[in-house]
Amino acid sequence: MIALLFAAMAVLPFNDGWEFQRKGEGGWTPTSVPHDAAFGLPLSRDEDHDHGFAPSPETRYRKAFARPDGSGRFALKFDGVYMDSQVFVNGRLAGGRRNGYVSFEVPLDGLGDTNVVEVVCRAPSPNTRWYAGVGILRNVWLVRRQGWTLEPETVAVTTELRGDGAAVVRVKVDGAKVVEPVGGEFVVEKPALWTPETPNLQWLSVTAENAAGERDTVRIRYGIRTVEFTKDRGMLLNGKPYRIKGMCQHDTFGAFGAAFNLPELKRQLAALKDLGANAIRTAHNPFAPQFYDLCDEMGFLVKDEFFDQWKMPKTKFGYSQFFDKCWRDDLAAIVRRDRNHPCVVLWSVGNEIRDHWKGAAGVGALTRQMVDAVHALDLTRPVTAGLNHPDVSATNGVIAALDVVGLNYNADWYAKLRGVKPVFGSETAPSLADRDTYLFEERDGRMVPVQAQGHRECAYSPKAFTWAAPAETALRAQMDSPWSAGEFAWCTFDYLGEPNHTGRTGKDYWPARSSYWGICDLAGLPKDRYWLYRSLWNTAAKTVHLMPDWTHPGCEGKIFPVWCYTNAKEAELFLNGRSQGIRRFADTTDLHLSWDVAYEPGVLEVKARYADGMVSTARRETAGPVAALRKTLIFESDGMRYFRFDAVDEKGVRVIACEDPVTFDVDGCEFVCAVSGSTTDHTPFTSRTRRLFRGSIVVAVRGEGMIQDDFCAKLP
Ligand code: GAL
Repeated sequence: MIALLFAAMAVLPFNDGWEFQRKGEGGWTPTSVPHDAAFGLPLSRDEDHDHGFAPSPETRYRKAFARPDGSGRFALKFDGVYMDSQVFVNGRLAGGRRNGYVSFEVPLDGLGDTNVVEVVCRAPSPNTRWYAGVGILRNVWLVRRQGWTLEPETVAVTTELRGDGAAVVRVKVDGAKVVEPVGGEFVVEKPALWTPETPNLQWLSVTAENAAGERDTVRIRYGIRTVEFTKDRGMLLNGKPYRIKGMCQHDTFGAFGAAFNLPELKRQLAALKDLGANAIRTAHNPFAPQFYDLCDEMGFLVKDEFFDQWKMPKTKFGYSQFFDKCWRDDLAAIVRRDRNHPCVVLWSVGNEIRDHWKGAAGVGALTRQMVDAVHALDLTRPVTAGLNHPDVSATNGVIAALDVVGLNYNADWYAKLRGVKPVFGSETAPSLADRDTYLFEERDGRMVPVQAQGHRECAYSPKAFTWAAPAETALRAQMDSPWSAGEFAWCTFDYLGEPNHTGRTGKDYWPARSSYWGICDLAGLPKDRYWLYRSLWNTAAKTVHLMPDWTHPGCEGKIFPVWCYTNAKEAELFLNGRSQGIRRFADTTDLHLSWDVAYEPGVLEVKARYADGMVSTARRETAGPVAALRKTLIFESDGMRYFRFDAVDEKGVRVIACEDPVTFDVDGCEFVCAVSGSTTDHTPFTSRTRRLFRGSIVVAVRGEGMIQDDFCAKLP
């Protein structure tokens, strides 16, 4: 993506022409990488529920290649192989990496005219608490070096703002002398600062000289900005208070599996921009390098997280097996890789680390060692961790060792840490809901939202978690704690794995195979809670969202709770043209407006009035029988197009009760997948026939051309 210009180094894609073989299977199957070998295999109740009941077979890849053109030293660079990989070149072990999320290189020594590289990936289940896939999940590059090379990872560009508004840019190179810029620093009199709203980026040509007097030049992209976390004013970006409006996210790609997927990543980031989010937490591991490039370009702050487990395992075959031997190298590799990205504002040494709260001996000292290891490579960003038991971490030296305290839930600790340590919400407000799903129980003529029915979870999310405050309470806690730097909510998108839902545990989550935690479903479509955050975070757009749907045959006269998420100051609700009253935020502590409305079929419309006098509306309408599928192009990037299909009645009103199968045929383009957002539908995503979920489905195609649908909706 970034055209790095190297004098002595050339980097070429090495993604095509691979073959793979899962253990126990004969034969080799051609593939390109990035590739996820676990994706699409039949699910089984015997597999681990956290992995979404997906198997995780040991997988080998191989690729034959001719000796590369030109002279010099060759190597392969892997952006990430999941996990515990070994790389063989012409049958000889040349390298590998235990940690599946850390980039690494292997030398290509002693090449012949024809050569074979083999990669073994071992990720026995369970190794994570979510579906992580298995395979060469990220890009592979062929690197050619001639003479001494200045490695981009050894260069650290830092920026400081002076009182007069000028910026000082400093360059350091590990193990070599900076020749250009002269003296290793220069001043920019009128810097175009980097912020999420103004993601200004610069290129810098750096020349360095080694001890033998050899020189090389590399171009580094950077941004001019400063970051400081304070005990009393939250985060300062370029010296000014700046609130983190962040979401947690896994680096998997829903219906596309765990292999890196650029268009899908762009779609995810576009949704986050629309939401008004300005920050992303890499839960709970470093992402692919291209993610950080995009965050620099599009304007997102990143909390770059290293680990989900240290010595004490969370899963039998997880990283804790390798932690002692590997953490120093893994942590250093990531800091070196990511430190020139202006988007990265925090390093996180871990998420809900068991050692932090289960009484591991020496955990305070170990945390201190990790913080020091980061500081040795980067002093411009603080080090944090996501603490789920701050009470314990306050007594065992963990909080003392951290620069900034990240609170997973535990909102009462904002006040306790005020003036003591910089603090923020590293994980807040889990959302447990299906899209467009409104579940009620009738009590004395009132329709009361209930959290769950069967495997479905309710969009009102009435359930109180023992460990977490509801979203509105968590958002309020931030508003009431201006010394906190902000929050990262759990989470943006539903993901494969961790299908926890109400009233069940472990195997009994089956057939649910994907999470319910997202504010968007697995198809990337917004659930109602998306609009809560958008109404608070996207200040540039008007948000008016009404819930629930308004098709409830047999419930005439029953009282429904009607909610509106809006950033207007007040709103008036109408049912079939009759006012149901005006509601004002000035009169409530809720972050939504609400009415109790006796159901009658027809049109429910809300008119939201803004401070500038503008009025915006949203409506829900009682749907008739399904008459058609409405097709909308919702995203386009890198040759991929995403279409949303909605079942509608003859007036064009969405029929969300419709969950009939649809068959898609394509003409002139390639069908890639269909995804409905259902957590329980095991139909392969690549199947052309799939049921709608709550009236909708998303279809991804590659290339130009048409999609035809054969819609077999039964009339209600
Ligand atoms: C958190 C954890 C996340 C996810 C979430 C689900 O405690 O850090 O990884 O499991 O719970 O609510």
